[in-house]
Amino acid sequence: MENNVFEQMAKRYDTEERIQLAKVIVKEVRSELQNSKSNSLLDYGSGTGLISLELSDLVESILLVDSSKQMLEIAEAKISRKGLTNSKVLYSDFTQDTPELKADIVLMSLVLLHIPDTKRILQELFNLLYDGGKLIVVDFDKNDKINHPKVHNGFLHEELKKTLSEVGFTSIEMKTFHHGHRIFMNQDASMFISSSIK
Ligand SMILES: C[S@@+](CC[C@H](N)C(=O)[O-])C[C@H]1O[C@@H](n2cnc3c(N)ncnc32)[C@H](O)[C@@H]1O
Repeated sequence: MENNVFEQMAKRYDTEERIQLAKVIVKEVRSELQNSKSNSLLDYGSGTGLISLELSDLVESILLVDSSKQMLEIAEAKISRKGLTNSKVLYSDFTQDTPELKADIVLMSLVLLHIPDTKRILQELFNLLYDGGKLIVVDFDKNDKINHPKVHNGFLHEELKKTLSEVGFTSIEMKTFHHGHRIFMNQDASMFISSSIK
Protein backbone atom coordinates (compact mmCIF):
# COMPACT_ATOMS: atom_id res chain seq x y z
CA MET A 1 0.00 0.00 0.00
CA GLU A 2 2.95 2.34 0.70
CA ASN A 3 3.99 2.65 -2.94
CA ASN A 4 0.65 3.51 -4.45
CA VAL A 5 0.30 6.59 -6.59
CA PHE A 6 -2.13 8.22 -4.16
CA GLU A 7 0.53 8.30 -1.40
CA GLN A 8 2.62 10.54 -3.63
CA MET A 9 -0.19 12.88 -4.61
CA ALA A 10 -1.98 13.22 -1.25
CA LYS A 11 -0.57 16.61 -0.28
CA ARG A 12 -1.45 18.12 -3.66
CA TYR A 13 -4.74 16.23 -4.18
CA ASP A 14 -7.13 19.05 -3.25
CA THR A 15 -6.71 21.22 -6.35
CA GLU A 16 -9.27 23.85 -7.30
CA GLU A 17 -10.49 21.54 -10.13
CA ARG A 18 -10.97 18.58 -7.79
CA ILE A 19 -12.72 20.78 -5.21
CA GLN A 20 -15.13 22.04 -7.88
CA LEU A 21 -15.83 18.52 -9.15
CA ALA A 22 -16.33 17.33 -5.57
CA LYS A 23 -18.99 20.03 -5.07
CA VAL A 24 -20.93 18.62 -8.03
CA ILE A 25 -20.68 15.09 -6.57
CA VAL A 26 -21.57 16.21 -3.05
CA LYS A 27 -24.76 17.86 -4.32
CA GLU A 28 -25.82 14.63 -6.02
CA VAL A 29 -24.92 12.36 -3.09
CA ARG A 30 -26.65 14.62 -0.56
CA SER A 31 -29.96 14.08 -2.33
CA GLU A 32 -29.44 10.30 -1.92
CA LEU A 33 -29.01 10.72 1.84
CA GLN A 34 -32.30 12.28 2.82
CA ASN A 35 -33.76 10.46 5.88
CA SER A 36 -30.39 8.89 6.77
CA LYS A 37 -29.85 10.70 10.09
CA SER A 38 -29.64 7.48 12.10
CA ASN A 39 -27.38 5.70 9.60
CA SER A 40 -23.68 4.87 9.53
CA LEU A 41 -21.86 5.79 6.31
CA LEU A 42 -18.68 4.08 5.16
CA ASP A 43 -16.82 6.09 2.51
CA TYR A 44 -14.63 3.54 0.74
CA GLY A 45 -11.63 5.16 -0.97
CA SER A 46 -12.41 8.41 0.79
CA GLY A 47 -9.18 10.13 -0.19
CA THR A 48 -8.86 13.46 1.60
CA GLY A 49 -12.58 13.46 2.46
CA LEU A 50 -13.63 15.93 -0.24
CA ILE A 51 -17.00 14.18 -0.49
CA SER A 52 -17.93 12.57 2.80
CA LEU A 53 -16.73 15.37 5.07
CA GLU A 54 -19.46 17.47 3.45
CA LEU A 55 -22.10 14.88 4.41
CA SER A 56 -21.57 14.65 8.16
CA ASP A 57 -24.73 16.62 8.98
CA LEU A 58 -26.89 14.05 7.13
CA VAL A 59 -25.81 10.80 8.83
CA GLU A 60 -25.04 9.55 12.33
CA SER A 61 -21.43 8.56 11.70
CA ILE A 62 -18.86 8.41 8.92
CA LEU A 63 -15.94 6.03 8.56
CA LEU A 64 -13.46 7.15 5.89
CA VAL A 65 -11.56 4.12 4.61
CA ASP A 66 -8.57 4.39 2.29
CA SER A 67 -5.49 2.37 1.32
CA SER A 68 -3.35 5.52 1.34
CA LYS A 69 -2.12 6.65 4.77
CA GLN A 70 -1.24 10.10 3.50
CA MET A 71 -4.69 10.73 2.04
CA LEU A 72 -6.11 9.81 5.46
CA GLU A 73 -3.69 12.10 7.28
CA ILE A 74 -5.14 15.00 5.31
CA ALA A 75 -8.68 13.81 5.97
CA GLU A 76 -7.90 13.55 9.71
CA ALA A 77 -6.53 17.08 9.80
CA LYS A 78 -9.78 18.30 8.20
CA ILE A 79 -11.85 16.35 10.72
CA SER A 80 -10.11 18.10 13.63
CA ARG A 81 -10.15 21.50 11.93
CA LYS A 82 -13.89 21.22 11.29
CA GLY A 83 -14.45 19.80 14.80
CA LEU A 84 -16.42 16.83 13.43
CA THR A 85 -17.15 14.43 16.26
CA ASN A 86 -18.95 11.80 14.17
CA SER A 87 -16.21 11.11 11.60
CA LYS A 88 -13.09 8.94 11.78
CA VAL A 89 -10.62 7.27 9.45
CA LEU A 90 -9.48 3.68 8.86
CA TYR A 91 -6.40 2.67 6.88
CA SER A 92 -7.42 -0.46 5.01
CA ASP A 93 -7.61 -2.13 1.61
CA PHE A 94 -10.59 -4.48 1.38
CA THR A 95 -9.14 -6.11 -1.74
CA GLN A 96 -6.46 -7.54 0.59
CA ASP A 97 -8.40 -8.08 3.78
CA THR A 98 -11.83 -6.89 4.89
CA PRO A 99 -12.14 -6.10 8.61
CA GLU A 100 -15.23 -7.08 10.59
CA LEU A 101 -17.36 -4.01 9.96
CA LYS A 102 -21.01 -3.21 9.34
CA ALA A 103 -22.54 -0.12 7.73
CA ASP A 104 -25.97 1.14 6.68
CA ILE A 105 -24.62 3.00 3.65
CA VAL A 106 -21.45 2.54 1.62
CA LEU A 107 -20.24 5.31 -0.69
CA MET A 108 -17.62 4.84 -3.38
CA SER A 109 -16.76 8.02 -5.25
CA LEU A 110 -14.25 7.77 -8.10
CA VAL A 111 -12.72 4.61 -6.62
CA LEU A 112 -14.18 1.68 -8.55
CA LEU A 113 -12.20 2.70 -11.63
CA HIS A 114 -8.97 2.14 -9.68
CA ILE A 115 -9.80 -1.40 -8.56
CA PRO A 116 -9.05 -4.12 -11.13
CA ASP A 117 -11.53 -6.76 -9.88
CA THR A 118 -14.82 -4.83 -9.84
CA LYS A 119 -17.02 -7.76 -8.89
CA ARG A 120 -14.86 -8.83 -5.97
CA ILE A 121 -14.80 -5.41 -4.28
CA LEU A 122 -18.55 -5.00 -4.82
CA GLN A 123 -19.01 -8.40 -3.15
CA GLU A 124 -16.93 -7.32 -0.14
CA LEU A 125 -18.98 -4.14 0.19
CA PHE A 126 -22.24 -6.08 -0.18
CA ASN A 127 -21.15 -8.40 2.64
CA LEU A 128 -20.49 -5.58 5.08
CA LEU A 129 -23.78 -3.79 4.48
CA TYR A 130 -26.70 -4.47 6.82
CA ASP A 131 -29.74 -6.04 5.13
CA GLY A 132 -31.61 -3.19 3.49
CA GLY A 133 -28.41 -1.13 3.35
CA LYS A 134 -27.50 1.05 0.40
CA LEU A 135 -24.47 1.21 -1.89
CA ILE A 136 -23.87 4.51 -3.69
CA VAL A 137 -21.32 4.49 -6.51
CA VAL A 138 -20.15 7.62 -8.31
CA ASP A 139 -17.85 7.06 -11.27
CA PHE A 140 -17.19 7.88 -14.90
CA ASP A 141 -19.22 6.64 -17.82
CA LYS A 142 -17.31 4.45 -20.27
CA ASN A 143 -14.90 6.63 -22.26
CA ASP A 144 -13.09 5.27 -25.30
CA LYS A 145 -10.65 8.19 -25.32
CA ILE A 146 -9.01 6.78 -22.22
CA ASN A 147 -6.59 3.92 -22.20
CA HIS A 148 -4.52 3.29 -19.08
CA PRO A 149 -3.19 -0.05 -17.81
CA LYS A 150 -4.20 0.55 -14.19
CA VAL A 151 -7.52 2.34 -14.60
CA HIS A 152 -10.89 1.20 -15.98
CA ASN A 153 -11.90 3.65 -18.71
CA GLY A 154 -15.26 4.17 -17.04
CA PHE A 155 -18.25 1.83 -16.89
CA LEU A 156 -21.20 0.93 -19.09
CA HIS A 157 -24.43 1.23 -17.09
CA GLU A 158 -25.79 -2.10 -18.30
CA GLU A 159 -22.58 -4.01 -17.48
CA LEU A 160 -22.25 -2.49 -14.02
CA LYS A 161 -25.93 -3.12 -13.28
CA LYS A 162 -25.41 -6.77 -14.24
CA THR A 163 -22.41 -7.08 -11.91
CA LEU A 164 -24.28 -5.39 -9.04
CA SER A 165 -27.17 -7.74 -9.53
CA GLU A 166 -24.93 -10.85 -9.67
CA VAL A 167 -23.40 -9.77 -6.38
CA GLY A 168 -26.89 -9.66 -4.85
CA PHE A 169 -27.97 -6.02 -5.01
CA THR A 170 -31.56 -5.12 -5.91
CA SER A 171 -33.42 -1.90 -6.79
CA ILE A 172 -30.42 -0.81 -8.84
CA GLU A 173 -30.71 2.72 -10.22
CA MET A 174 -28.13 4.53 -12.32
CA LYS A 175 -28.07 7.88 -14.08
CA THR A 176 -25.56 10.20 -15.70
CA PHE A 177 -25.64 13.50 -13.81
CA HIS A 178 -22.72 15.59 -15.03
CA HIS A 179 -20.71 16.24 -18.20
CA GLY A 180 -17.43 18.09 -17.68
CA HIS A 181 -14.45 19.49 -19.55
CA ARG A 182 -11.21 17.49 -19.06
CA ILE A 183 -12.40 15.83 -15.84
CA PHE A 184 -11.19 12.26 -16.57
CA MET A 185 -7.47 12.04 -17.28
CA ASN A 186 -7.63 15.35 -19.10
CA GLN A 187 -10.49 14.23 -21.35
CA ASP A 188 -14.05 15.50 -21.46
CA ALA A 189 -16.19 12.95 -19.66
CA SER A 190 -19.46 12.27 -17.90
CA MET A 191 -20.16 10.88 -14.45
CA PHE A 192 -22.91 8.62 -13.19
CA ILE A 193 -24.38 7.93 -9.77
CA SER A 194 -25.87 4.58 -8.89
CA SER A 195 -27.74 3.40 -5.86
CA SER A 196 -28.48 -0.23 -5.00
CA ILE A 197 -30.03 -1.97 -2.04
CA LYS A 198 -28.81 -5.14 -0.26
C1 LIG B 1 -9.67 9.46 -7.20
S1 LIG B 1 -9.50 9.26 -5.46
C2 LIG B 1 -11.17 9.62 -4.93
C3 LIG B 1 -11.23 10.19 -3.54
C4 LIG B 1 -12.62 10.56 -3.03
N1 LIG B 1 -13.49 9.41 -2.95
C5 LIG B 1 -13.24 11.65 -3.89
O1 LIG B 1 -14.21 11.37 -4.64
O2 LIG B 1 -12.75 12.79 -3.81
C6 LIG B 1 -9.39 7.50 -5.25
C7 LIG B 1 -9.06 7.08 -3.81
O3 LIG B 1 -9.27 5.67 -3.73
C8 LIG B 1 -8.23 5.12 -2.95
N2 LIG B 1 -8.08 3.71 -3.32
C9 LIG B 1 -7.65 3.21 -4.49
N3 LIG B 1 -7.65 1.86 -4.45
C10 LIG B 1 -8.11 1.52 -3.21
C11 LIG B 1 -8.35 0.29 -2.55
N4 LIG B 1 -8.10 -0.89 -3.14
N5 LIG B 1 -8.81 0.31 -1.28
C12 LIG B 1 -9.05 1.50 -0.65
N6 LIG B 1 -8.86 2.69 -1.23
C13 LIG B 1 -8.39 2.70 -2.49
C14 LIG B 1 -7.01 5.97 -3.26
O4 LIG B 1 -6.02 5.88 -2.27
C15 LIG B 1 -7.63 7.36 -3.38
O5 LIG B 1 -7.63 8.03 -2.15
